[in-house]
This record gives sequence, structure tokens and C-alpha cells, in this order.
Amino acid sequence: MRDGASLTLRINGRVVTVPVGTSVAAALALAGDFVSRGDLGGRPRGPLCGMGVCFECRATIDGVPEVLACLTPCRDGQEVVTDA
Ligand code: FES
Repeated sequence: MRDGASLTLRINGRVVTVPVGTSVAAALALAGDFVSRGDLGGRPRGPLCGMGVCFECRATIDGVPEVLACLTPCRDGQEVVTDA
């Protein structure tokens, strides 16, 4: 990995640039949005454990629903959609 390298993805249609190696969950935080989904009552939920245990970071990534954002590295041109 080259120091200072970055990539660009879209989160809910918004263009976000992050360092290479960033997880999607971290990209949500860097974008200022810690919410990844809503619970059955509509309350906001977001990444909690950061290691694939809590399932609170689920998002639709490149059209695939319920992907764990904390275990998914960002890639250039990625499309992330949250349901919150
Ligand atoms: S943050 Fe807990 S599973 Fe992703």
C-alpha cells in the first residue's frame, strides 16, 4: 500500500474519499454518519464491535444486502446503501 493513497466510493449516493485499507464501517464514520441501519422500530443502529460479531453494521454493498461493513474493505467505485 502506498502512503497517502486514497479511493473514492459512494455512501447513499454521496461521494466519499477514504485512505486505501479503510473498512466500509470506518468510511461511514469518516463520512460523519455512524448509522448503518434502522431496527424494526426505526431506531438508528450502527457498527458496534468492529469485528463481525454484533451484526449492527449490515448494509447493502454493491447490491448485496446484509453485508457486514466492518469486515468489508472499501474499494474504488463501491456503492454502499444504508437503510437508516
Ligand atoms: S460492527 Fe459488529 S459485526 Fe460489524
